Amino acid sequence: MDLLLNKIYEGSALNVLNELPENSVNMCVTSPPYWGLRDYQTNPAKWNDGWSGELGAEAEAKDYINHLCDIFDGVKRVLREDGTCWVNIGDTYKKKCLCMIPFLFALEMVNRGWILRNVIIWHKPRCVPLGVKDRFTVDFEYIFFFSKKPKYYFEQQLEPFKSSTLKHTSKCSVSEKSKYYQGFCAEHQRKYQQKLLNNELKGRNKRTVWSISPQSFHGDHTATYPLKLIETPIKAGCPENGIVLDPFIGSGTTAMVAEQLNRNWVGIELNPKYIEMAEERIRNARP
Ligand SMILES: C[S@@+](CC[C@H](N)C(=O)[O-])C[C@H]1O[C@@H](n2cnc3c(N)ncnc32)[C@H](O)[C@@H]1O
Repeated sequence: MDLLLNKIYEGSALNVLNELPENSVNMCVTSPPYWGLRDYQTNPAKWNDGWSGELGAEAEAKDYINHLCDIFDGVKRVLREDGTCWVNIGDTYKKKCLCMIPFLFALEMVNRGWILRNVIIWHKPRCVPLGVKDRFTVDFEYIFFFSKKPKYYFEQQLEPFKSSTLKHTSKCSVSEKSKYYQGFCAEHQRKYQQKLLNNELKGRNKRTVWSISPQSFHGDHTATYPLKLIETPIKAGCPENGIVLDPFIGSGTTAMVAEQLNRNWVGIELNPKYIEMAEERIRNARP
């Protein structure tokens, strides 16, 4: 089947991905249903192990991880050789114990051949206080950044230097005599500091804790991620006019950001009600 751009395919990601041409999209950014949390009122999908039900409703975490990773095997096939895959996934408590789902997922992805490049913390400056008193309030989620191969497309992203860095650098230059500075090559550090003081650097390499206020609801969809959250992955992982894939597109956030940044997109969604909602949202966001 030819890849139809800027369109949502209706169906289970596992089946639809099988129909899409291999090596055809530049990147994938997505947020799957979390384990044991929500009911997206999708029709039960059929899985490779014979189980049929909604992704996230499995009784055992290991079955959820396997179903999810089967879908990402399909993503890997559709992804170009220089492609990357960015997955936002949250954790679950069962019998008061944190299940470590994000890390079980990331480990299984690595077992299946993905290269894990970064664990990014999505810090939520505004989060829902749940009234727990016997542990701390969780104010972050994970984004895992994987590549298909060791060499991949990546546009470096910069953030402003902290004023404290500039102050510190102007006071503490690396001595001409030292070979090492904090375990790194002093010569390299001296050149970097000089460039910094001469105002030749546009910013520092972006860090892995991103503070972004959540936007958890759009219309009837209760798990929308914020537009801002996926701007950086799309800018870093997809060239202009390239193709962004989201196999769980929900209310269409990925498509909206891709269009704002002049990228094409392909979405997959199991619930037709959400497809209608996403299509309207994407249309309304167009200039
Ligand atoms: C966490 S939400 C994604 C939200 C999206 N990032 C947004 O901003 O709107 C997960 C979505 O996956 C859909 N879904 C669940 N199982 C699916 C499957 N097997 N294949 C495709 N989509 C599925 C759900 O209906 C839901 O809309």
